[in-house]
Amino acid sequence: MRTVAVYPGSFDPPTYGHLDIIERSSRVFSRVIVAVALNIRKNVCFTPRERESMLRKLTRPWGNVEVTSFSGLLVEFARKKDAHVLVRGLRAISDFEYEYQMAHMNTKLAPEIDTVIMMTGERYSAISSNIVKEIAMFGGKIDDLVPPLVRDLVFIKLKGAKRK
Ligand code: COA
Repeated sequence: MRTVAVYPGSFDPPTYGHLDIIERSSRVFSRVIVAVALNIRKNVCFTPRERESMLRKLTRPWGNVEVTSFSGLLVEFARKKDAHVLVRGLRAISDFEYEYQMAHMNTKLAPEIDTVIMMTGERYSAISSNIVKEIAMFGGKIDDLVPPLVRDLVFIKLKGAKRK
């Protein structure tokens, strides 16, 4: 059976933690659609096009992974893509409540779609996109948190923001 999975998120920017989930999902599901959320409540640093472009380059090694963006309800997007699984990463117990609520709400909206929670690899469990940006803002090293391509773009963005 071919199982299509959607891995949604804001990816502002993508981190090694996200890539860990993407790589492992690509081994479990026939097709993985990494979906960059457009209508999110948080302030983002990277444009949707930048986030998509970073993810496309980073996911090149995995032939069954594609990257796109979506707006509106996640389950409606998944339905359009014929996906029956939503993948989410769980970094720590603090993520649990949010993921629990989202999984139940999504099941209420679309009972035919299951949420599969993957434990984020231990070495990535303390990473978040905001932490990456904050460390970079104060000149700290982010090499262990994000791939070189993302690191360079984070510093370029921050330089641009400081000049404004
Ligand atoms: N490794 C490292 N960091 C991770 C991670 C992992 N495996 N998984 C999540 N994170 C971090 C992210 O970097 C992000 O950090 P930040 O808050 O510092 O930016 C944080 O965890 C949560 O981000 P993310 O997983 O991208 O979720 P989100 O809350 O930004 O996005 C959506 C959630 C987009 C999936 C959700 O809002 C959605 O589905 N929206 C569409 C509208 C909808 O259908 N709503 C109803 C939902 S019930």
